[in-house]
Amino acid sequence: MCGIVGYIGSRDVSTTLIEGLRLLEYRGYDSAGIAVAATGGEISMRKRAGRLANLEGVLGELPTGSIAGIAHTRWATHGAPTDLNAHPHMDEHGEIAIIHNGIIENYAELQRELTAKGHTLSSDVDTEVIAHLIEDAYQGDIRLAVAAVLPRLHGQWALVVMHRGEPGRIIAARREAPLAVGLGEGEQFLASDPVAILEHTNKIVFLRDGDLADLQRGGITLYDAAGAKFAPKVETITWDGAAARKEGYDHFMRKEMDEQPRALSAAMLGRVSVDGVAISELDAIAPALAAARSIEVVACGSAYYASLTAATLAERLLRVPVRVTVASEFRYDPPALGPTSLVIAVSQSGETADTLGAVRTAKAAGATVLAIVNAAGSSLTREADAVVLLQAGTEISVAATKSYTSQALVTLLVTLDLARRAGALTAEDLRSWSTELLTIPAMASAALDSSDALPAIAKKYFGSSGFMFVSRGAGIATAFEGALKLKELAYIHAEGIAAGEMKHGPISLLGADHPVVAVVLNSSVLPKLVSNLMESRARSAPVIAILSGVDDWSTFATDAVVIPAARPEIAALIATIPLQRFSYEMALLAGADIDQPKNLAKSVTVE
Ligand code: F6R
Repeated sequence: MCGIVGYIGSRDVSTTLIEGLRLLEYRGYDSAGIAVAATGGEISMRKRAGRLANLEGVLGELPTGSIAGIAHTRWATHGAPTDLNAHPHMDEHGEIAIIHNGIIENYAELQRELTAKGHTLSSDVDTEVIAHLIEDAYQGDIRLAVAAVLPRLHGQWALVVMHRGEPGRIIAARREAPLAVGLGEGEQFLASDPVAILEHTNKIVFLRDGDLADLQRGGITLYDAAGAKFAPKVETITWDGAAARKEGYDHFMRKEMDEQPRALSAAMLGRVSVDGVAISELDAIAPALAAARSIEVVACGSAYYASLTAATLAERLLRVPVRVTVASEFRYDPPALGPTSLVIAVSQSGETADTLGAVRTAKAAGATVLAIVNAAGSSLTREADAVVLLQAGTEISVAATKSYTSQALVTLLVTLDLARRAGALTAEDLRSWSTELLTIPAMASAALDSSDALPAIAKKYFGSSGFMFVSRGAGIATAFEGALKLKELAYIHAEGIAAGEMKHGPISLLGADHPVVAVVLNSSVLPKLVSNLMESRARSAPVIAILSGVDDWSTFATDAVVIPAARPEIAALIATIPLQRFSYEMALLAGADIDQPKNLAKSVTVE
């Protein structure tokens, strides 16, 4: 979503900031801006709607010789993505420049108050009120002014502020939106995601909720929510620079799809052996796991669908209620929670606002929170009681691919380990599971190979009025995910439904121009699914089938992609791979921006 970069030091300030923004581009944005401070204090600002290239086009107009600066990519929440609404924002005297990620919920009230006092606000965005409030509070020390204003704000923020009277100083503050400081020698960096600055320093301080950082060239000073100074906890971050490059691929999405065998293998490393599954990260919460009487899984979007794959298996094995809920609903309308509830939060970024909100709701109710996350060091990893990392590597494409299959796999591994700990699986059952789990990377490679049939299938059905993705059992999650991928990437309407529900309404849509995409897995409900597909064929709908362990498809499908045979929970995650390719090919045909679909952001840090 929105991206922040800040810098104080002797490098070329605008180049350093723009390079940082470029590394955050993948998160999605619709305008960008920069403000730089000269030695004498004068702040110059440039902002442009659209891509970063538009901003770069006007950078030449900035004065040279600046010593500090802040830059932003904005994903519109309040106000359209225009030049005016782009960040930074300034007070009317051009003394304060501010950048903000998040939402100020009481901005309308603050705006009224400021207007009544005679302030002139020029944009439609919530952020601008903060600049004017700081202007009123300023008495010669920008840190004190920011600290005085923060209690007046309701909502979420990662804020960075510069004042004309104090060149070479940047104040940063966070609440429920990520912000990190990068420490250098005689230079300091700021970023909403360390990826933007790791080329320059791997010494990172992640700000916590309520923290305020005072950055000056020689060092940083940190203050907690009560205003007390504290020593920075510096983390050394290792960064895989290759993840940020396409390495010969046209799109990050395609590269990340191809990385799935490796990512799935990494997810099992040290966790799955021929004898079974053991996740050492769960040891720290073993008493809470043993005491758990219910399991609530919370996630958003693709992570939500990935979480569904093993949920029924978990309930069957563990004999406790297991419910998967979208985090945006859970956070404001939670089920009965208490000390015997285990809440599992699943997220690629670990920064999704709704998932973090759900976790805070759960913790406030006394539940134990286990996070399944890809991004090490993210907010979710710091708030949970225990963390199992996906180990999928950085995912740049907005559409989840390797993180989806890794999430589905790790939730399955956690399910199996919980069952082992509860004595719900025999040693023989565990060996049988792990033998099959260890073949997942090879199955994923085979699925990537068989996906080469999809360009022709996509071409055949491109232009259809819509697509219905269906399955039964564990495959339903895959059908949901397949529909989401087609919508977000190719902007084609698609619906994911349980196949048994078709006859209760959705079947009306079917016809020669409205194909069905079926996830056909070899399970006890296969005959039922086949009947539903025959009903679709009887209404002239083409059926594109992703088949696992099913050989004879000519009666119910018009087109087929064959993936390896496996038990349903495993086949379901492998079946996602051809569906990713289907959407990718459709998006190519639609001429869509594959890595950054319109209106979307990689990390959804607002509600
Ligand atoms: C779709 C997609 C999104 C995310 C969702 C949650 O391809 O990527 O639906 O799955 O925004 O994001 P995380 O996993 O970062 O919490």
